[in-house]
Amino acid sequence: MKLSTATLIAFAAGAIGAPADFVVPRQAPGGCSSAVKLDASTNVWTSYTLHPNSFYKEEVEAAASQMSEPDATKARKVGDIGTFLWADTIANIARIEPALQGVPCNHIFGLVVYDLPGRDCAAKASNGELPVGAIDRYKTEYIDKLAALIKKYPNTAFALVIEPDSLPNLVTNANVAACQQSAAGYREGVAYALKTLNLPNVVQYIDAGHGGWLGWNDNLKPGAEELASAYKNAGSPSQFRGFATNVAGWNQWDAEPGEFASHPDAQYNKAQNEKKYVELFGAALATAGMPNHAIVDTGRSGKPGGRLEWGDWCNVIDSGFGRRPSSSTGSTLADAFVWVKPGGESDGTSDSSAVRYDSFCGKADAFKPSPEAGQWNQAFFEMLLKNANPAF
Ligand code: BGC
Repeated sequence: MKLSTATLIAFAAGAIGAPADFVVPRQAPGGCSSAVKLDASTNVWTSYTLHPNSFYKEEVEAAASQMSEPDATKARKVGDIGTFLWADTIANIARIEPALQGVPCNHIFGLVVYDLPGRDCAAKASNGELPVGAIDRYKTEYIDKLAALIKKYPNTAFALVIEPDSLPNLVTNANVAACQQSAAGYREGVAYALKTLNLPNVVQYIDAGHGGWLGWNDNLKPGAEELASAYKNAGSPSQFRGFATNVAGWNQWDAEPGEFASHPDAQYNKAQNEKKYVELFGAALATAGMPNHAIVDTGRSGKPGGRLEWGDWCNVIDSGFGRRPSSSTGSTLADAFVWVKPGGESDGTSDSSAVRYDSFCGKADAFKPSPEAGQWNQAFFEMLLKNANPAF
């Protein structure tokens, strides 16, 4: 029986009684035809491709429309690269659902969970909306809402990066008053996020900074123990896979001897590239009793040499788009290269009169002018494109 579109719509609307042998196809909102069950004891990135989300694609389209050829065509290709979407405020949870429409079954949707009370305790650029102490709002208005959304899309696979910088800050910035005040909320919030978002269609990675942060000899063990306790406090969730490194970072994957290896301090840090960091920190995590596979943000590490210091993090000049998302990493502990920071979105404002101005964004190696964290910076995007390696 051949049915016209109009007849199908009439059936679906219930205006016409459907013949007994005719089942109105369920309007799938994307995803697979049945519920997704991810096995976090395996590398899911060998069967799923990071989804190029429509939110970033639209940002890139808008950017390309301001450019002339041949660069505009190259720019548009950036929108086809799988990139994580950041749920950086309660209000911005609304960005997720439109981007979930039409995700193919073999794609995995990358989502960054990023709204802890007292967020970004050792810096200012990404200070969040929730003040220290607002843990109940974090749970009920943020994490519970994310969980409900993910449950609404059981046929779609999700990869989560949980709370960039939060636990690493507790390890290395314990002397900063704001981090002391935030500590209890970070620990409770991260454990709650892991437990509540432990859903069958999810694989979880907790943020572990980068090699120039927790990779120092003296930071490996306390860092691993801090992350492992969050995992254990969450009840050792089944969908937990390990850690995320270099999120919004600039480190090279396997450069030898490493960008900062000739620095006098290098003797105290064996994690001179992210590959070494994944292996060293992965080993420390195994000792601490936590699953230890990693994903690595390679989105902006195409061109080294821009940073004056290893710890410089804000809008690094002369950087470029880096390795594309892939599960071919050459390291058994590294599940995949991914793009977490959407290249073109700012790390922080260079306006020294702004409330969230951080002095790192005023350093000689920080791109200026730059808008507030998360806002689009057209000139920076064009620079990343020009310096991309591989080229577009
Ligand atoms: C900002 C967020 C933004 C994210 C991705 C962070 O530095 O604080 O607002 O969503 O970067 O660009």
